[in-house]
Amino acid sequence: MAFAHHKGGTGKTTSCLNVAGFLQKKGRSVLVIDLDPQANATSGLGIDPHALPLSVYDLFMSRFEGFPDVSFQDVVLETRSGVYLAPSTLDLVGVEPFLYNIENRAKVLKNLLTRDRPEYEFILIDTPPSMGQLVINGLVAAEHTVVTFDRGIFALHGLDTLMTIFADIEELLGEHVSPDMAILTRWDNPEQELRRGVLARFADHFKKPDPELARDKEQLRVFEREVRDRFPAVFVVPYSREIYEAQNAGLPISHFAPECDAGRAYRAVAGKILGWNG
Ligand SMILES: Nc1ncnc2c1ncn2[C@@H]1O[C@H](COP(=O)(O)OP(=O)(O)OP(=O)(O)O)[C@@H](O)[C@H]1O
Ligand SMILES: [Mg+2]
Repeated sequence: MAFAHHKGGTGKTTSCLNVAGFLQKKGRSVLVIDLDPQANATSGLGIDPHALPLSVYDLFMSRFEGFPDVSFQDVVLETRSGVYLAPSTLDLVGVEPFLYNIENRAKVLKNLLTRDRPEYEFILIDTPPSMGQLVINGLVAAEHTVVTFDRGIFALHGLDTLMTIFADIEELLGEHVSPDMAILTRWDNPEQELRRGVLARFADHFKKPDPELARDKEQLRVFEREVRDRFPAVFVVPYSREIYEAQNAGLPISHFAPECDAGRAYRAVAGKILGWNG
């Protein structure tokens, strides 16, 4: 399953790690493949990307002459939460220029997975914010694609672009991309709203209506409707400060603060995915 959106900061890594954590907690074996040179999924699982003997870089490069033969088994680590990780390092940026020189450049990851057959019930792929060869490799290798959106204007305008890219992959490469789920991250937090003090509500009472804010809210509602029309499953994940704390602690939210608002939302996402798998 690939987590994708070409814009930065839409919640790809957060969603990938936290879904992985809840699937692991439900007793499934889970591998996260970090395809992003920023290596946020790697550090988010408590692994220092600067201290790795082997990484996804070596896996990709093993495809080229003159580089050592490296398999998934050599690269994968078990992390503190029990989620397995094929880690990334900044070196991964060096892979793309090599990929441009080969014909089947979009299918390298898919072919590596077919060759090594790493045995996990779920393989979750975190992709970088671009539309380069690494992302395309993630999309092509995956059976399902989860698209994440935040409230930023660029993510909202990205929906048509994404659908065009998915259609192009299908047309040009003959590889089907299945955008089966959308996750709207840091979307709203009605419970937090309810918990706000009486004073804040009193202050709101005297505020002038803000036409710009009303327009933004309407734009979000329209966007959400469009997403619900296009994706068979849509989840809303509210803002929770524990998400950031869990990432700093190197743990998925499932193993850090499963009952926070975002934790409960990600547990529901994992439940839906378990349903797909029978
Ligand atoms: N539900 C949430 N509550 C609070 N903070 C969140 C939530 N979801 C994401 N964040 C924070 O938002 C930031 C961006 O999220 P994340 O790194 O998952 O996005 P991304 O799409 O992977 O970014 P990039 O495109 O750079 O890879 C992170 O600092 C993360 O901690
Ligand atoms: Mg990321």
